[in-house]
Amino acid sequence: MFTLVVSVLWQTPTQVQQQMVQCLNDISLKHFTPVHALVVAYYNSQLQESLSRILENETQERNKLYWERDFGNKLLQDLHKSEKWSLLLYLNNDKWNEEMPQSKHGSYIIISLHHHHKNVVQDVSVQIKKLRNDWDWNPRAKFIITLPHAEGNSTKQLAADVFNELWRWRVINMIAVIPALGPKNTTDAVPVLDVYTWFPYRPPGRCADVRDPVVLDHWIVDKYGNGSFLNNATLFPEKVPKDLQGCPIVASLFELEPAVMSKKFTTEDSAKTVFNEGIEIRLLQEFGSATNMTVKYIEPPSGELWGVPLENGSWTGTSGQLVLGLVDVAMDLYFYRCDIIKGTECLTPHMIDHVRWYVPCAAPFPGWMSLIRVFTLSLWLGFLVSYFIVAFIMWQVVKKSNTMFTQSMENQGYTSLVKCLMNFWAIILGESVPNNPPEKPVIRMVFLIWVLYCLAINTVYQTYLTSFLVDPGLQHQISSDEEVINSGMEYGVPAPVLSVVPDLTGYRYQRLLHCNDYKVCQDRIAFKRDFSYIYSTFSMDFTIAARYTNGDGKQLICSFEEIFSSQLITVPVPKGYIMLDRFNQIILHLLQAGIIDQWFKDIKYTTSLRSRVENDVLSGEYIKLSLLHMQSAIYILLLGLLLSFIVFLYEILFCRNAQGYSKRLSGF
Ligand SMILES: *[C@@H]1O[C@H](CO)[C@@H](O)[C@H](O)[C@H]1NC(C)=O
Ligand SMILES: *[C@@H]1O[C@H](CO)[C@@H](O)[C@H](O)[C@H]1NC(C)=O
Ligand SMILES: *[C@@H]1O[C@H](CO)[C@@H](O)[C@H](O)[C@H]1NC(C)=O
Ligand SMILES: *[C@@H]1O[C@H](CO)[C@@H](O)[C@H](O)[C@H]1NC(C)=O
Ligand SMILES: *[C@@H]1O[C@H](CO)[C@@H](O)[C@H](O)[C@H]1NC(C)=O
Ligand SMILES: *[C@@H]1O[C@H](CO)[C@@H](O)[C@H](O)[C@H]1NC(C)=O
Ligand SMILES: *[C@@H]1O[C@H](CO)[C@@H](O)[C@H](O)[C@H]1NC(C)=O
Repeated sequence: MFTLVVSVLWQTPTQVQQQMVQCLNDISLKHFTPVHALVVAYYNSQLQESLSRILENETQERNKLYWERDFGNKLLQDLHKSEKWSLLLYLNNDKWNEEMPQSKHGSYIIISLHHHHKNVVQDVSVQIKKLRNDWDWNPRAKFIITLPHAEGNSTKQLAADVFNELWRWRVINMIAVIPALGPKNTTDAVPVLDVYTWFPYRPPGRCADVRDPVVLDHWIVDKYGNGSFLNNATLFPEKVPKDLQGCPIVASLFELEPAVMSKKFTTEDSAKTVFNEGIEIRLLQEFGSATNMTVKYIEPPSGELWGVPLENGSWTGTSGQLVLGLVDVAMDLYFYRCDIIKGTECLTPHMIDHVRWYVPCAAPFPGWMSLIRVFTLSLWLGFLVSYFIVAFIMWQVVKKSNTMFTQSMENQGYTSLVKCLMNFWAIILGESVPNNPPEKPVIRMVFLIWVLYCLAINTVYQTYLTSFLVDPGLQHQISSDEEVINSGMEYGVPAPVLSVVPDLTGYRYQRLLHCNDYKVCQDRIAFKRDFSYIYSTFSMDFTIAARYTNGDGKQLICSFEEIFSSQLITVPVPKGYIMLDRFNQIILHLLQAGIIDQWFKDIKYTTSLRSRVENDVLSGEYIKLSLLHMQSAIYILLLGLLLSFIVFLYEILFCRNAQGYSKRLSGF
């Protein structure tokens, strides 16, 4: 718990200051939890400045020095002597702790040394800003504020303004200790200090606008100079009611399936987007209905999404809105970043997401390859070589037999290599040979071997060809991180993901691009197939089901098992958000009941159904063969026609010339 003491003590009589010390001690002992650090903060150098600037006369200066020497020392001494807290003294010129959190501060005492209304408020504001800069800053604490009789406005107004300043940073458990004014009571107990506080949600229906601070208790002094509280009131009562009577939860969100989905309503004057579906919208509605709060939406500046850190330490996007306190919660599958963003806290994570590579799916083999893909290159070569070898052997065998047997053969079909090749070509194609092979056993043997060989090859070829024509199959699918990087393909990541996955900034991923418009990136993966990227599994599972599935139910974007990194999905809130515990409880109940999983399944199912209806899917086990399937046959046909046409042309030209030549010859 924290204590905030703001005081303009140098203006008040010495006795009041002594009482103030007593009073602060008393409150500290009664209300502050031990163990946690107690922070005492005041503006030391401000004091010196104000000495020359604000103070005009000696009396005031003396009072001020008195404060320096005695009040501060006495307060610190007393607090220290109790040995209940580790005391941190915070003066404005100290370097504040920039390191990672150690343990949250237990309480604060902040002291302002001004006496003008405006200056006091400004001073408190500046001090709070400095304190907030610390990782250990804890607005969910108890605060005590001591205020002076400010010039220019009522004490109540001053208390209200200071409370307002603290409420901006979600400090709620605060009291102000203010020297009492007015007619002194003549009984033996004299009220010296009043204790103020405010109730943000009282009367019911009011939503945390600081209007009227109320007096909780009086610090009275008896005739011996002993101080005590008059009513022993509870100084830090519970201030957040169970039923918030329609006070707003302001959420920062943007469309991101399946967490936040919208429906567009077009009215006559404008088109309005209403976020009304999605896992986190349902979660938000659950928060709202459990506490009777109303949900309001704000969208982050366009294109900034979750936001990235800027060089000066501030954040853009929904994270930035949180840090500035403009919104109460941020949504959209927010990866846990509360360890790197000061000024935010995270609710209990409600899902675990995995970050994976998303790569183009393997492309089907082009149809024109079907005819030649049946065999590997080596088999084709082997086949070709055996074709030539057997033809050559046939030719040689026929030649040999012609020379050995003097009577010339009636059959001249195999007497040259070209003739052999032509005949064997006919056998390959399963055609009959125009002439019988010579009736020599050796020749017939060679012929028969070739026929058998071709029969085997042909049968296998045709069997496979049919299946390749019907389903050409897929080319190689990228299936590891290594392959993506070595493929030479461009790859990227949405910038907000980069801030939570530091591995990606390493040397290995030096060619990593930033993918600012993730829809463009997805389209590029699905349709141009020249890009890969790293993204959330939840979101992509869903996006693929909804948008990147073709008519046959095949995905256009693929992934592989390898998980790049696992991330907690949470709902961040500004540090000190009063509903944190209540919301955590709701999340816990939803998780234990398995409702969040159920939502996910529901939404995925309905969305994929809807996208099926929209795409008008016609899919089945049997497909009609189309020109696309027969591509290769047609290409071969065209090639053949082209070749024969060329030969035809060539023949016409060549023959005409030959005739002309012979005519000219005969003319002589
Ligand atoms: C000095 O301060 C006292 C009390 O605040 C006041 O009565 C007195 O008039 C001041 N003197 C001058 C010169 O301002
Ligand atoms: C009195 O309070 C109002 C409202 O907070 C503020 O604007 C004004 O500056 C105050 N007056 C003085 C003299 O400080
Ligand atoms: C004096 O104090 C007592 C007890 O706090 C109170 O009842 C009484 O009204 C006070 N008198 C005046 C004149 O303020
Ligand atoms: C009040 O003061 C008197 C005289 O100084 C002292 O004897 C007494 O113990 C004190 N009482 C308390 C409760 O501090
Ligand atoms: C307040 O508490 C103190 C000690 O705890 C006790 O002496 C005193 O009588 C109480 N006063 C009231 C009004 O209850
Ligand atoms: C919820 O808040 C409204 C005011 O916005 C109130 O009228 C209603 O009674 C509350 N509901 C419950 C159940 O308390
Ligand atoms: C940081 O820089 C951005 C623009 O670059 C600016 O809008 C923002 O106000 C700056 N924040 C701080 C705290 O300086």
